[in-house]
Amino acid sequence: MNPMTEDDLTQAVLERLTTAQDPRFAQVMASLIKHLHAFIRDVDLQPDEWMAGIQFLTAVGQACDDKRQEFILLSDTLGASMMVVMLDQLRAAAQAKRQGALSATPATEATVQGPYYWEGAPVLPCGADIAPGVKGEPTFYSGRVTDTLGQPIAGATLDIWSGDGEGNYDMQLPGAEMAARARIQTDAEGRYWFWSIKPTYYPVPVDGPVGRMLDGMGRHPNRPGHIHMMVYAPGHVKLTTHLFVANSPYIESDAVFGVRPSLIVDFEQHAAGQAPDGSQQAQPYWSAHYDFRLETQAA
Ligand code: BEZ
Ligand code: FE
Repeated sequence: MNPMTEDDLTQAVLERLTTAQDPRFAQVMASLIKHLHAFIRDVDLQPDEWMAGIQFLTAVGQACDDKRQEFILLSDTLGASMMVVMLDQLRAAAQAKRQGALSATPATEATVQGPYYWEGAPVLPCGADIAPGVKGEPTFYSGRVTDTLGQPIAGATLDIWSGDGEGNYDMQLPGAEMAARARIQTDAEGRYWFWSIKPTYYPVPVDGPVGRMLDGMGRHPNRPGHIHMMVYAPGHVKLTTHLFVANSPYIESDAVFGVRPSLIVDFEQHAAGQAPDGSQQAQPYWSAHYDFRLETQAA
């Protein structure tokens, strides 16, 4: 049929999906078309505004290369990445429950991965300093990894990364050598401990179209101080999350909406002296304690 009205137009586009081979693809596209048409009508989009939108998306694509993914940044700053993360975790929890894994306590909440993950971080033993020579205040991190019933998981891997105490990731610095990254395995009782630095807040990249969009929205580009972790073990759902520094600037207004109250950790300040791992610290240091819970993998 040829459309006569705006309603007919939406219907006509939807009808062309009847020949799609993949039903899930057809479902996703049908919803996208309905929402896109509704959005255009809702704001009564003018031709010059539509063209500005096309030029913006073109610029987002052109800003992408092998080191920079402006589309992910767009998704992050619009809250889309976080929505996908939240729904994915809810789905995994519901599936585990259906399969009889009655969670006494829900798994640790997930958050966005961000663009600074670097595969292949060095494998270091518990207790290692994973950020030697990195700018920032020394911090002792410790805790346990358990399942949702509280059973310790021995040999779980924590793949850890953060920026330095000035808010820069190793990838952003000249030379771009790995720093403040490591993979650490839990001991027989599911415990982990290591030294790194106390991360500080930093801005997401703003020298591209997403930066201009944030500016246009009157939004700041900053993320509160956080350290990233991927935590995984056989038989358990891989967790991608952060620990956020309590009271960090921007803790209430993360530019990518990644903060979840359960991930905010009090960093405790200590005078120089003997640290919890028995080491002697010549300068004041911080400590942060956090226990991770992993969902059991559905069969
Ligand atoms: C990050 O935490 O590393 C990050 C996340 C989303 C966008 C930019 C940076
Ligand atoms: Fe980060």
